[in-house]
Amino acid sequence: MLVLGIETSCDETSVALVEDNVIVENLVYSQIEIHKVFGGVVPEIAAREHLKKLPILFVELLEKTNLRVEEIDGIAVTKGPGLIGALLVGVSFAKGLALRYNKPLVGVNHIEGHVFANYLVYPELKPPFIVLMVSGGHTLILKVERGEGFTMIGRSVDDAVGEAFDKIARLLGLGYPGGPEIDKIAKFGNPSAFHFPRPKLQDNDYDFSFSGLKTAVLYELQRLKKNLSGESEKLSDKIVADLAASAQEAMIDVLVYKVTKAARAHGIGKIVIAGGVAANSRLRERLKETSEFEFFLPPLNLCSDNAAMIARAGIELLKKGHTDDLKLEPEPNFFEMIKPNTLENT
Ligand code: KG4
Ligand code: ZN
Repeated sequence: MLVLGIETSCDETSVALVEDNVIVENLVYSQIEIHKVFGGVVPEIAAREHLKKLPILFVELLEKTNLRVEEIDGIAVTKGPGLIGALLVGVSFAKGLALRYNKPLVGVNHIEGHVFANYLVYPELKPPFIVLMVSGGHTLILKVERGEGFTMIGRSVDDAVGEAFDKIARLLGLGYPGGPEIDKIAKFGNPSAFHFPRPKLQDNDYDFSFSGLKTAVLYELQRLKKNLSGESEKLSDKIVADLAASAQEAMIDVLVYKVTKAARAHGIGKIVIAGGVAANSRLRERLKETSEFEFFLPPLNLCSDNAAMIARAGIELLKKGHTDDLKLEPEPNFFEMIKPNTLENT
């Protein structure tokens, strides 16, 4: 089955053609350079950029693959979660194509898309498995038991871990997005130099909380700067690296502890890591230290947002006969998207 994928939920505009488990082409345009100056994604600018770039990328996709729209079997588009204006652009574009070429249309849950990215790299992967979904918008532990759908067994009660990386990076005066900056600088720091809290580590659930960590870093910074009075106001590079490494270690400790605890409790030996933070080199290193589980980590280009994962999830849905009509609407909120009876832990 050959499916066109369209992704516009946040700040990546992407179109892809996927045939079963094979990526024919996956074009991603990142808006990061535009949002960088604002220190975060500006929703209206994101929507306008999608509107500008999506048709251009689509034409480029057809040219690169030498395919005609008539040849595809269906259109899969991210319906949410994400920024409403951004989602509207992708969904409208997908509807237009479905109408013009009379092709089946299916709306895809972006989170499910991240899970499906793994089938593109590990076609042999089969449920059951546990997913640690770590992005700028979500931190979730999911249980996948069948070919589609999932049960949420844990989530962050406040900031997502990617968001915490970005906010802590900003406090430390590093660039945006903060995750890769902290990852880089932490290599020169001592992860035990500062002891930051491991929130919810001892709680009897699989939930996370990251906003307190950001506050702890802020207080530590204020304390360090006070001691500097009279000298230059700037902290040394070594101290900034120590702070970054220590904060990163605190977040990773909780992620690794909770996801392995969840897998153990559910008697599942396979753990899939998905989302932008899966690119973190220290997280990848720490996972390699345990041989109790088999870990699946997508390559970096499939960890971040892309349309290939949406097309792959769409193939699964279309094969099972799921389609949407032209009434398809974006669903920006993850917790409103999933049925309450799938929230095992809430
Ligand atoms: O999944 P993603 O590309 O977009 C969504 O949020 O859906 O994730 C982006 C997040 C950002 O917060 C970014 O700082 C974080 O992933 N990130 C990282 C790394 N690369 C990206 N966090 C830690 N270490 C990294 N190497
Ligand atoms: Zn994402």
